[in-house]
Amino acid sequence: MSKVITVKKPQDFYQLDAPAEALASGELVAFPTETVYGLGANALDAFAVKSIFTAKGRPQDNPLIVHIAHKSQIYELVKSVPPAAEKILDTLAPGPVTIILEKNDVIPDVVTAGGKTVAVRIPENYIAQELIARAGVPVAAPSANTSGKPSPTKAEHVKEDLWDKVSYIIDGGSCSVGLESTVIDLTVTPPAILRPGGISHEELAALIGEVRGYKSGDSDTTAPKSPGMKYRHYAPKAKMKVFKGQAFEEAIKETIAATPQVNVCVLTAGERTYQGAKTINCGATPEEYSKNLFDALRTADNQGADIILAELPFPSGGIATALYNRIYKSCGGNVVLCK
Ligand code: TXA
Ligand code: MG
Repeated sequence: MSKVITVKKPQDFYQLDAPAEALASGELVAFPTETVYGLGANALDAFAVKSIFTAKGRPQDNPLIVHIAHKSQIYELVKSVPPAAEKILDTLAPGPVTIILEKNDVIPDVVTAGGKTVAVRIPENYIAQELIARAGVPVAAPSANTSGKPSPTKAEHVKEDLWDKVSYIIDGGSCSVGLESTVIDLTVTPPAILRPGGISHEELAALIGEVRGYKSGDSDTTAPKSPGMKYRHYAPKAKMKVFKGQAFEEAIKETIAATPQVNVCVLTAGERTYQGAKTINCGATPEEYSKNLFDALRTADNQGADIILAELPFPSGGIATALYNRIYKSCGGNVVLCK
């Protein structure tokens, strides 16, 4: 049985003692972060980490991110912390950024899928920090969804996917960013973004100098640097089509008119209605849309949508780059350009 614990304020922190103890002793605990909910296990316990892969149905060759509560915990996990890593940890952490460094032997191979590098992140969410601090161990955690499905941004998404597969689900409300962290590889020159996320390429480059931006296709090949990026991801059950650019309205209306016999759900970028379709307003800014996207995909599925059509009128850059990356994967590249 999974036990659900609701934490709304620091006065509720005492409730984290039982899940923290469960984590330290090898059980699985799902918890909120500012990006998405994580499925945590003691990162130093190979057996516990293995059970993450089973619970999620995750391919074994996809390494996990190790979460810590304080910067001081990183020094035992990695061979060295170069100046760029220090700068990122001092300036952008805690926050939605994950750094990749050479791993130390304390990290079991199952965490890194046999690789010599490890991904480390300090989440900003205060519940995540408190849980990890109370557990007293680094916590390996992928997103707390069944592999392939949209990532969880609310505790109810975790319940949908992992009920009974984890000891505790900590409900900390909706995630504030809604898309996963930026993954940056600091073992290469120049450092390279392997997954766009909550911290933008622009912010990282301003801080540490030249950074190789994420190139779609890069890590979608058969030998990707960030193996997770090659799998089908973030996908709703419904078919999905994305309308990129400003002139989406006519194109969406035509698509709805051409498919009268099916349930259509439109994800809108602001308040709008379409005759013959349900709509879910994801928000008029890239930040709002990012926060709401995964929940909207699950909602559309639960409402029985056959087709999801998504408005995507934002210029790229900043978080919009990450939003594009996720939504393109959700729809399997089914994108229409609407100039
Ligand atoms: O925001 C996040 O990062 C969330 C929350 C829970 O912290 N976690 C998350 O984990 O998104 P996951 O497992 O869903 O995605 C981790 C990504 C994958 O694409 C994986 O391949 C990559 O990071 N990764 C992990 N370790 C790596 C390594 N050593 N080298 C390259 N890529 C790595
Ligand atoms: Mg994931």
